[in-house]
Amino acid sequence: DFELSLRPKYLNQYIGQTDVKENLRIFIEAAKLREEALDHVLLYGPPGLGKTTLANIIANELAVNIKHTSGPTIERSGDLAAILTSLEPGDVLFIDEIHRLPKSIEEILYPAMEDYCLDIVVGKDVEARSIRIDLPPFTLVGATTRAGDLSSPLRDRFGVISRLEYYNQDDLIKIVKRTSDIFNIPIDDKASVEMAKRSRGTPRIVNRLFKRVRDFAQVIGDGIINIDLCKEALNRLNVDEAGLDHTDHKYLLGIIEKYDGGPVGVEALAASISEEVQTLEDVYEPYLLQEGFIKRTRRGRIVTEKAFNHLNITTKETLFNHK
Ligand code: ADE
Repeated sequence: DFELSLRPKYLNQYIGQTDVKENLRIFIEAAKLREEALDHVLLYGPPGLGKTTLANIIANELAVNIKHTSGPTIERSGDLAAILTSLEPGDVLFIDEIHRLPKSIEEILYPAMEDYCLDIVVGKDVEARSIRIDLPPFTLVGATTRAGDLSSPLRDRFGVISRLEYYNQDDLIKIVKRTSDIFNIPIDDKASVEMAKRSRGTPRIVNRLFKRVRDFAQVIGDGIINIDLCKEALNRLNVDEAGLDHTDHKYLLGIIEKYDGGPVGVEALAASISEEVQTLEDVYEPYLLQEGFIKRTRRGRIVTEKAFNHLNITTKETLFNHK
């Protein structure tokens, strides 16, 4: 299956994130040498950078099973207890969006992580008592876009805390070439660079764009992705030269047109462009900040000179003279 094979299964197939990867390689090797469960791992960073992929790789490298769940799907203590008691020694439990775990569930996790045991309350009222269930040693791999939203007692219980960074151009080019090989759709060097430049440092985006560019190549081209076809397709997909999409434009123009370039608070901005605060904060702002299109100030977000130039708006004054 193409979709599945796009995801690397072992560390040596995983491109980029060198520091995280090389550290994990050591920790995994050491756990295997000692025949222990790997210490708990927290992966954080913007969406699409490979947190889930790494969790699967950790399990593959350890040659153990992985159980996959997410913060919002665990609603009751029984949900978590069911998963924890189904683990075999050394298994990986992957909790995506771990910052959205209900507080009451978090507290069950503490002894599970620290002492591999589960304290559950049985019976009601005067008959209620706590019983302790031993768990097999296991590795919790937690993933979150926002490490700051984890409570510190939870964060402190991870022995490995790794931050995934946006990918550089060279690594994205390697990913594009890998995808091209897997799909058996040739892409030339210039087009690979173009795809890499316009993918916001994000493998998930480069692969999504690759699939759509492939559609154009097969229908209006000759099945090969060259630079002209690539540019044509990306333009039609409303991905601009810096990789910004419709929502990024709405964000920047919203600040410029409605708030005079800022500063504006994220709540007011979100309401005025009909987007969720959380989506802006988790998905859009990290890249706009890193690329210097916006800045965060104490009084809110402001649009930078670079953004004005990028949008072809020379100065604030010219913009407002037009109105
Ligand atoms: N596909 C998506 N992300 C990847 C990565 N980091 N390495 C290799 N292939 C990928």
